[in-house]
Amino acid sequence: MVAAVTKQIEQFVQELGDERSYELFTKVPSGKMLRTKLILQIAKTPEAVRLAAIVEMIHAASLLHDDVIDEATKRRGVDSINAIFGNKSAIMLGDILYSKAFYELTKFSSQIAQTISHAVALLSLGELKDVELSNSFNSNEESYFDMIYKKTASLIEASAKSAAILAGLDSEAYGLYGKNLGLAFQIVDDILDITQNEQTLGKPALADFAEGKTTLPYIYLYQSLGEDDRQKLLYLFKKELNPEQKAWLFDKFEETGAIQRAKEQARALGHEALEQLHKSDEKLRQIMEELIERTY
Ligand code: FPP
Ligand code: MG
Repeated sequence: MVAAVTKQIEQFVQELGDERSYELFTKVPSGKMLRTKLILQIAKTPEAVRLAAIVEMIHAASLLHDDVIDEATKRRGVDSINAIFGNKSAIMLGDILYSKAFYELTKFSSQIAQTISHAVALLSLGELKDVELSNSFNSNEESYFDMIYKKTASLIEASAKSAAILAGLDSEAYGLYGKNLGLAFQIVDDILDITQNEQTLGKPALADFAEGKTTLPYIYLYQSLGEDDRQKLLYLFKKELNPEQKAWLFDKFEETGAIQRAKEQARALGHEALEQLHKSDEKLRQIMEELIERTY
């Protein structure tokens, strides 16, 4: 069924009848398809394949723009579209995928169209907040959660909610499942940026802190440090770290258990996600467990 979604996306892009954009599109590496797996697990209707294709195209568009914003040269282990073809083509390919997805979305009920399009507004607000929070060291947990809710969890929430609408299920409950799952997903992503090496990540390790992103493990670390160590952490913020500085950072993470604390927070959110469902669904539990315990 995931293969059917990949095929549907290809077909949507081909329908635009433009060779060059199709060629650029073929260079976009495919990801974990989390949103697709969620939608197909909740709704087993032919429309679910089209809905998943739409959501994946919106997600791909947002990553094309995000890589320009973050000046990222790698995505999913290969050169990013902006690195190969430049920022202008990457932005326009994003706009092409995004607008075709919206055209297709108008064929769904207004409840679904509004759910997904509202999430895209939140995505954009979240990305703006991410950019602005990166200007200085953010030690505010609430701002971090608001930002990751908008930037990441909102589209996962909207995917689960819309699939539930298609399947005639309790859309609020599935939406909450998606929201908590999305928050957990981003926290795990932020942990992996610290714990995994470049080869596994498919992008440079410790990139977040160098880019100015104070993610949850850094917020917890800051909370646990004494005044001198806090000053040192602030000094390292947004810098390319040498091996000695990296070793200091890892020592402090170890000493304070900040990464472990962030992981427990992700696990708690994952379990909260499952509790929203009225009946237990083994596959949705598995999606949650895999997402939290993943190493890439
Ligand atoms: C990745 O975050 C970014 C997002 C999940 C959302 C990006 C959203 C936009 C650019 C706005 C929406 C735009 C359109 C066209 C729909 P990250 O940088 O923390 O993760 P990464 O490490 O995977 O880059
Ligand atoms: Mg990025």
